[in-house]
Amino acid sequence: MSRTPLIAGNWKMYKTGPQAVTAATVLVKLCTGISNPEIMIAPNFIALQQVAQIFAGSPIKTGAQNLYFENQGAFTGEVSADMIKEAGAEYVIIGHSERRQIFGETDESIRKKIKSAVLSGLKPILCIGETEGQRDEEKTFQVLDKQVSDGLKGFGPDELVDLVLAYEPVWAIGTGKTANESQVDEVHRYLRSLLGKLFSQEFADQKRILYGGSVKPENAYSLMGIEDVDGALVGGASLDADKFINIIKYNESII
Ligand code: PGA
Repeated sequence: MSRTPLIAGNWKMYKTGPQAVTAATVLVKLCTGISNPEIMIAPNFIALQQVAQIFAGSPIKTGAQNLYFENQGAFTGEVSADMIKEAGAEYVIIGHSERRQIFGETDESIRKKIKSAVLSGLKPILCIGETEGQRDEEKTFQVLDKQVSDGLKGFGPDELVDLVLAYEPVWAIGTGKTANESQVDEVHRYLRSLLGKLFSQEFADQKRILYGGSVKPENAYSLMGIEDVDGALVGGASLDADKFINIIKYNESII
């Protein structure tokens, strides 16, 4: 089964406009000629349009970190899928654990956001993951099952052609702790079989499942070597162009 891996960088609430422009310009130079893996960067909303313009014609795609599920209206502080699409983004990260934990996002609002992304032609990256406490209580699979089943409830497989799943154990995000290979392997296999049950085996085989949580050049090669890992969602290390390019070139990096 060939699934082109995706290395996606989430810049979170870092980089001012000028800093984002500088970083994007550096990345375009570093990524010239790369067609595999697919590469994506999600800057903040202020920088999105400018960064998308810099990436245009390069191998790097642009993504947003969030959206609001209504098209337009009196929703102070929010940004719609159409606005994001028009600004030049191709992807949108939905349900990141920081959004779930800090901003109270629920599986229900996440499902609406996925719907809105799909209707606008944005490719949704649905983030899921258990907390440390849930893992300790051996609830990992139960939590993931609910996040995936509720997040994707009511969709037909045709609507989710461009869906990407990102497994990000909350305890591994920004902590320097990475899930070990057998934990990642076990979860990714579980997720693919869950997608098979919810949709079809063909659907599951075609879906990319990214790993996220303290991915860095030092562990990218071994993580990407796991059969059901189809790329990475990178936070901290995506802020540094040298680190990010070494993750993108995980096949060449002998670290
Ligand atoms: P990290 O973040 O790479 O800094 O752990 C990952 C993420 O939040 O997607």
